[in-house]
Amino acid sequence: QELKFNLEQIEKGGYEHFMLKEIYEQPHAIRDTYRGRLLANEGIIRMSGVENHKEKFLNANRIIIVACGTSWHAGLVAEYIFEDIARIPVEVEYASEFRYRNPVITEKDVVIAISQSGETADTLAAIKLAKANGAFVFGVCNVVGSSIARETHAGAYTHAGPEIGVASTKAFTTQITVLTLIALKLAKEKGTISNSDFHYHLEQLELIPDKVKQALKSDEHIKKVAETYKDATNCLYLGRGYNFPVALEGALKLKEISYIHAEGYPAAEMKHGPIALIDEQMPVFVIATKKGHYEKVVSNIQEIKSRKGKIIAIVTEGDVDVKKLADHIIEVPETLESLSPLLTTIPLQLLSYHIAVMLGKNVDQPRNLAKSVTVE
Ligand code: G6P
Repeated sequence: QELKFNLEQIEKGGYEHFMLKEIYEQPHAIRDTYRGRLLANEGIIRMSGVENHKEKFLNANRIIIVACGTSWHAGLVAEYIFEDIARIPVEVEYASEFRYRNPVITEKDVVIAISQSGETADTLAAIKLAKANGAFVFGVCNVVGSSIARETHAGAYTHAGPEIGVASTKAFTTQITVLTLIALKLAKEKGTISNSDFHYHLEQLELIPDKVKQALKSDEHIKKVAETYKDATNCLYLGRGYNFPVALEGALKLKEISYIHAEGYPAAEMKHGPIALIDEQMPVFVIATKKGHYEKVVSNIQEIKSRKGKIIAIVTEGDVDVKKLADHIIEVPETLESLSPLLTTIPLQLLSYHIAVMLGKNVDQPRNLAKSVTVE
């Protein structure tokens, strides 16, 4: 027992919980994930799994992404980037729904399965179904040699390292990194991105680890925000565009480890329901970074304010407009809109972490949840 305890302490590397350690590992994990693949100086993305099956990707009618949980959220971010940059139609499906709804799949479809563990039963079953119908199946897994990695035709690993905390953090940002690399590579091949834009994206992606580090510096401030809202019973998370999936992921993180009810919504969809919930008790976390529908989000924030909701906004460094309206702001460095999820996610992870710790919850092993769901 004592030995186990000591081992665990060593594994946590001085952090109180695996989740916190894994949040802080993200600059490294993202860099490890693009190392050897992203050659910004040469203007090349090297990914043998994609190169060897280039024709499959380039001739695909569409890409279907299947996943569960946080990996499904990474798939939603990927939908934005694949469509926006590579102009390939994308559908993102819960693996559990896809496998049972008699989906239309053909040889012209490329299916991308995203899974940290590589063992999720529903995702594995979805892959088998897609293969049986002739689709080309590509895996994005973290665990090397896992069932999904073996079952797929090809793939690209995230190099996040072991993720122990049940609430997924570094797996999410490294999944987005891999999917961004694939989208950029295909965009280049298809000619849907200009050379200069392509190079600019590569340079900006290379800067992300340092910007994540910068975002992590708000930790003490985020702790204070957490203290203010830890007793909330309901929270709303809003975002638009690339940051809509980040809102979903932010809400999921809070639910998973603090057991506070939280909902993620596209900011504009608020008026079709959630706005009815807003009163002076309701914390609303809004992603309001400069690039990406900024003015529209500002007007959504005004709607919340006029109903006396508490506004906690994730903004770009140096923001002035949202600052005037929000109760709290948390800054992240500026980047391209398509890369912003890699930064806006960070404060939401920390916020959930601190709230859960303050409430005395078991952060690394929340009740009723498993790290890998190998049964239906
Ligand atoms: C479980 C975990 C989540 C994870 C999901 C999908 O619910 O608790 O953190 O996102 O499974 O897992 P996968 O390993 O397929 O990414």
